[in-house]
Amino acid sequence: MKLTFWVNEKPIELDTEPDRRLLDLLREDLGLTGTKEGCGEGECGACTVILDGEAAHACMVLAIQLEGCHVTTIEGLEENGELSALQKIFAEESAIQCGFCTPGMILSAKALLMHRPHPTDEEIRRALAGNLCRCSGYQQILRAVRRAAEEGRH
Ligand code: FES
Ligand code: FES
Repeated sequence: MKLTFWVNEKPIELDTEPDRRLLDLLREDLGLTGTKEGCGEGECGACTVILDGEAAHACMVLAIQLEGCHVTTIEGLEENGELSALQKIFAEESAIQCGFCTPGMILSAKALLMHRPHPTDEEIRRALAGNLCRCSGYQQILRAVRRAAEEGRH
């Protein structure tokens, strides 16, 4: 099938199979390897991207669902060749250890902050509940998102 969609605000045209996963289109066809594959079953959040304004698991979205959609990956957050404010705050708050969960975690946080610029701790926890971190940095992650909200830097 011919697929036209948007990735990080760039129009993309692909000739692909309808049942290919967004995760594979990003990593294999577009070279955007910041989106990680963990479970491949919608359970870990490592593959989280923003799809039409909402956090979504790229391992659970198929090419056939993507026509005309807008996808943001971690690569799309950089600002003028630099890390975004939210990424910098994650680093400053030591909310990154091995980094495997980090792109998905940051995109879930970004999606939350787009809708709720001043979330409660409970809302932050709920928004990140689908993102697993095996390095157990949850307190630092919560602090980073709270600080980004407080400072309006996301
Ligand atoms: S790889 Fe998609 S949710 Fe785990
Ligand atoms: S920082 Fe290692 S899995 Fe989260």
